[in-house]
Amino acid sequence: SVYHVFESVAKKYDIMNDSMSLGIHRLWKDTLLHQMNPYPGTQLLDVAGGTETNAGDIAFRFINYIRSQWDHQIRQKLKSHQNLSWQEISKSYQQEENELPGGSQVVVCDINKEMLKIGKQKAQHLGYSEGLSWVVGNAEELPFIDNKFDVYTIAFGIRNVTHIDQALQEAYRVLKPGGRFLCLEFSQVNNPLISRLYDLYSFQVIPVLGEIIAGDWKSYQYLVESIRCFPAQEEFKAMIEDTGFLKVEYQNLTSGIVAIHSGFKL
Ligand SMILES: C[S@@+](CC[C@H](N)C(=O)[O-])C[C@H]1O[C@@H](n2cnc3c(N)ncnc32)[C@H](O)[C@@H]1O
Ligand SMILES: *[C@@H]1O[C@H](CO)[C@@H](O)[C@H](O)[C@H]1NC(C)=O
Ligand SMILES: *[C@@H]1O[C@H](CO)[C@@H](O)[C@H](O)[C@H]1NC(C)=O
Ligand SMILES: *[C@@H]1O[C@H](CO)[C@@H](O)[C@H](O)[C@H]1NC(C)=O
Ligand SMILES: *[C@@H]1O[C@H](CO)[C@@H](O)[C@H](O)[C@H]1NC(C)=O
Repeated sequence: SVYHVFESVAKKYDIMNDSMSLGIHRLWKDTLLHQMNPYPGTQLLDVAGGTETNAGDIAFRFINYIRSQWDHQIRQKLKSHQNLSWQEISKSYQQEENELPGGSQVVVCDINKEMLKIGKQKAQHLGYSEGLSWVVGNAEELPFIDNKFDVYTIAFGIRNVTHIDQALQEAYRVLKPGGRFLCLEFSQVNNPLISRLYDLYSFQVIPVLGEIIAGDWKSYQYLVESIRCFPAQEEFKAMIEDTGFLKVEYQNLTSGIVAIHSGFKL
């Protein structure tokens, strides 16, 4: 399958990306999901969710989160109504087939068709199918109607978008009133000592690792450079506010190596 072909090629990148962030990107993504705290019924759009190695990272976490919320709700319900008949119990477990709890849906959108193919194969491989779809599209010109989603996420993706302001406007457009924008991206380190170490690591170690593990110095050189060029926390926050989002906030993770920006369309 396509997945398996890419899997072997991507494996080196996988090892590289994991060793580069020491696997911490998984924790950052878990934190994003906790901030989102979706409930059964939430409609999510995950933009730039493709990628050789990390395809579906947000979508699969979302599905797991929705399922565990649902299980939790049912358990609470059973606890508070211990006199329910078995018919009532089995009814409360019942779900529409081919649906996530509450009819939740997640759409993964990426500009790169090949990346989405890999994501699809990976989903099949891991047994995710209900409520999950894959759409080719540009963050700057999303192929969705207005006011469609409850949450918009973009993880390590907006840095690579040419017109960030346009992508933000599109995020705003496709969100429902009350909907939330969440962005996980590399940011600026706030501690001077950690900043020194981080610079050393970024410029002296990462490209070398990239060459040794993936045979690709250039991509990782570009990666660390693009991280430095991305607007700092406050500047990016102002851009999100300029788009019209309200209650814009951010959280620094790992001393600001990455940040989660959040805003609401009201
Ligand atoms: C670093 S990867 C994203 C990683 C993934 N979201 C994760 O959580 O680890 C960047 C992705 O952004 C996609 N991308 C780049 N420019 C885009 C655009 N303008 N619109 C949509 N996707 C884009 C690329 O195809 C690539 O799959
Ligand atoms: C079960 O108990 C709850 C209150 O604890 C009550 O409201 C409900 O009507 C009862 N249901 C049945 C089927 O007896
Ligand atoms: C996006 O990423 C590709 C490949 O990694 C790179 O060639 C391109 O210049 C990037 N675009 C922007 C705007 O950063
Ligand atoms: C996060 O880090 C940035 C830049 O390093 C710093 O200016 C800001 O005060 C920090 N913000 C919070 C909320 O910790
Ligand atoms: C993983 O490595 C690739 C290799 O170029 C890079 O494009 C991508 O941005 C990396 N992903 C993360 C989350 O750093």
